[in-house]
Amino acid sequence: MTAQIDTLAALRLLLAEQRGLGKSIGLVPTMGNLHAGHESLVTSAKAKCDFVVTTIFVNPLQFGPNEDFSRYPRTLAADKEILEKAGCDAVFTPAAADLYPTPLEQQTRISVPHLSTLYCGMSRPGHFDGVCTIVCKLFNMSQPDMAFFGLKDFQQFFLISRMVADLQMPLRLVAMPTVREASGLALSSRNGFLDAGQRKQATAIFATLQRMAGLIRNGDRDFPRIEQEALGQLAVAGLRPDYFQVVDRTSLLPAHGQSFELVLLTAAYAGSTRLIDNVTVDAPN
Ligand code: PAJ
Repeated sequence: MTAQIDTLAALRLLLAEQRGLGKSIGLVPTMGNLHAGHESLVTSAKAKCDFVVTTIFVNPLQFGPNEDFSRYPRTLAADKEILEKAGCDAVFTPAAADLYPTPLEQQTRISVPHLSTLYCGMSRPGHFDGVCTIVCKLFNMSQPDMAFFGLKDFQQFFLISRMVADLQMPLRLVAMPTVREASGLALSSRNGFLDAGQRKQATAIFATLQRMAGLIRNGDRDFPRIEQEALGQLAVAGLRPDYFQVVDRTSLLPAHGQSFELVLLTAAYAGSTRLIDNVTVDAPN
């Protein structure tokens, strides 16, 4: 039975009790509208921890003024069924006023310098400060032994890892691979905004990533040309590319002559829906 907890006080009480019983605690932060990608995090958390808490909170601090905060899908009843089946012990569904007692514009923020301004951070200024701040708060509230994230949001996971290292937070992060549809499209809560045509266009994102990864695997190191080629292919498929970048996955900086452990990061619009994806690739050395 998945217990629903909707206040911070109740969460603290429950987790203190579990800790007192000697149970290890796993945390899975989400914004809800759960799918098989989220479920894989919960399943992994259950395998590694005694007591698993999934948080569902559409975090206003990580949405820009013209983004989809108000239309972000909120599907709590269906989410609870998924969590129940995955064996999640508790779901934390706080109200914004409970998590942000201070007006948002005065809220203390966590910011990873520079890296949070690149790629997705370029077109979503302040987004990653909002993410790091809420994740830091959720870590403080629940003090988990382990926290579980998806690599679908590669930049997000990298920044959270940096925050944990820099602030010497006493927990272990676990990263899980991207869960995809048979078409290759990465599962995302935003896929629900796509009509049939856009869904078909969106499959070009993973296809393009894979083609470019193939070129690099075969020794092509002309990264600027590869990026241009990828942007062209996304556009031909009917998408509006935001960026396509070959990135050194050890530093999250743009790949350079000595970069061999790479990740290809991209974002593209299908209609007005912004989708992101990535693939890792090792270049021959
Ligand atoms: P959300 O988009 O709900 O994602 C919650 C977690 O599920 C993230 O760690 C994300 O990487 C993971 N996830 C999403 N789609 C996935 C997929 N197809 N395969 C595997 N994992 C997937 O990311 C956020 O929420 C928020 O920014 C949050 C971290 C909760 C802070 O508000």
